[in-house]
Amino acid sequence: MPGLVASLLNKIETRRARAGVVGLGYVGLPLAVELAKAGFHTTGIDLDDRKIRAINDGQSYIPDVPTADVRALRKAGKLDATTDFSIVKELDTINICVPTPLRKTKDPDMSYIVSAVESIAEHLHPGLLISLESTTYPGTTDEVVQPLLEAKGLKAGKDFFLAFSPERVDPGNPTFHTRNVPKVVGGVTPDCLKLATALYGTAIETIVPVASTRVAEMVKLLENTFRAVNIGLVNELALMCDRMNIDVWEVVDAARTKPFGFMAFYPGPGLGGHCIPIDPFYLSWKAKQSGFDPRFIELAGHINASMPHYVVEKVGDALNTKRKSINGANILIAGVAYKRDIDDMRESPALDVMGLLHGKGARVSYADPYVPVVHGREWSGRFDINSVEVSRGGFGRYDCIVIVTDHKTFDYDAMVAEADLIVDTRNAIRKPAPHVFKLGAARPETHGEGVAIG
Ligand SMILES: NC(=O)c1ccc[n+]([C@@H]2O[C@H](COP(=O)([O-])OP(=O)(O)OC[C@H]3O[C@@H](n4cnc5c(N)ncnc54)[C@H](O)[C@@H]3O)[C@@H](O)[C@H]2O)c1
Repeated sequence: MPGLVASLLNKIETRRARAGVVGLGYVGLPLAVELAKAGFHTTGIDLDDRKIRAINDGQSYIPDVPTADVRALRKAGKLDATTDFSIVKELDTINICVPTPLRKTKDPDMSYIVSAVESIAEHLHPGLLISLESTTYPGTTDEVVQPLLEAKGLKAGKDFFLAFSPERVDPGNPTFHTRNVPKVVGGVTPDCLKLATALYGTAIETIVPVASTRVAEMVKLLENTFRAVNIGLVNELALMCDRMNIDVWEVVDAARTKPFGFMAFYPGPGLGGHCIPIDPFYLSWKAKQSGFDPRFIELAGHINASMPHYVVEKVGDALNTKRKSINGANILIAGVAYKRDIDDMRESPALDVMGLLHGKGARVSYADPYVPVVHGREWSGRFDINSVEVSRGGFGRYDCIVIVTDHKTFDYDAMVAEADLIVDTRNAIRKPAPHVFKLGAARPETHGEGVAIG
């Protein structure tokens, strides 16, 4: 229906379109703020009443979104939020940003997408543009979302418009935000693509249209699989370098001086976050349905998943040099967020490291200025554990400190000066010291003396 296309295009261009964002987390809230800043009256929809109240009170709960922005947009009447999906009747555009985790079996958990789409479908009306942003396997938009929306008789590309545009936001990145990361967009039909491109073009600097929703879905999985596989490769190199007494960090830093054909990835205690540990399994699950066995993804998954065990082995080696065991040792985990200077601890390898050490009898504490509490349900210790404050004068009370996340706020000089032993999984401590054991690096000078028997 060309009239619908022209009318929605005009509403978008003149900012008379009413925008909606479903799922107001790390992806959805920044997007809602950008759409509101672009001039649209934007309504966020979420099931979490606390988030709705926070937004309506002019508060942000996402570190990358300043509260001042939310407050200003509230004051200007451009942003509001609700748990009630009946608002869909009044909206012209909807971006869906709900979670896509894995089930325990490592199969995609589509329940959040299905539930959000079913709620939208109840109020679907002619002329609505819907764009899915959640990371998912190729085929989700046309095999899962489209039939759910069309169940009541309206047709995608004719009565309403459907697109997929992967979110690429990098929480905590000071340079790249929702607005200046190019946005890949695929539509179910050319009109769907045209409208989605027009909408994103109002709030995001560069739009990259692609031929279909499947291409757009695959783009995101290529990006994250590329990272997972390269991290797997460099983690394997770290395990190798450990055996060969070579410093993998020095190797990568020297290799990255090559001005072409190399991109630096660094080893670490394991994958974390909502994307890299999860998304490649969305792809392998779908590929297997086509009879294709994706070997790189599985292999990288094995190596990356083994890293917390290697960290614990390293802790055992370090304690051994002091004739101590993990059992009974006081161990401080420095940093539990999945990466530096953020508060997100979903899938963080710190949870595995803590659980493994606890399982071997260690008394585990942690310090993380961004994560005040780790709840019992989040780690295998099964009890709540609060972050301890550590500062100069306080590092000496542990048998070993394990740097899992290299937050900038830690006082590394004091840590090195006072700690008995440090296991550094991030190369946070650049200067070699006899009590600092680095992941993927030569051991400090031998401390343990073998005892000859007989
Ligand atoms: N966090 C990232 O860095 C990042 C980056 C790129 C892509 N992604 C992808 O974006 C998607 C969202 O991730 P996120 O990190 O923003 O998740 P999040 O958990 O921070 O936010 C998701 C929000 O959706 C809400 N929600 C769940 N079900 C709902 C429903 N049926 N109706 C309405 N709201 C519902 C939740 O309450 C939550 O507030 C995922 O697919 C993720 O893989 C995340």
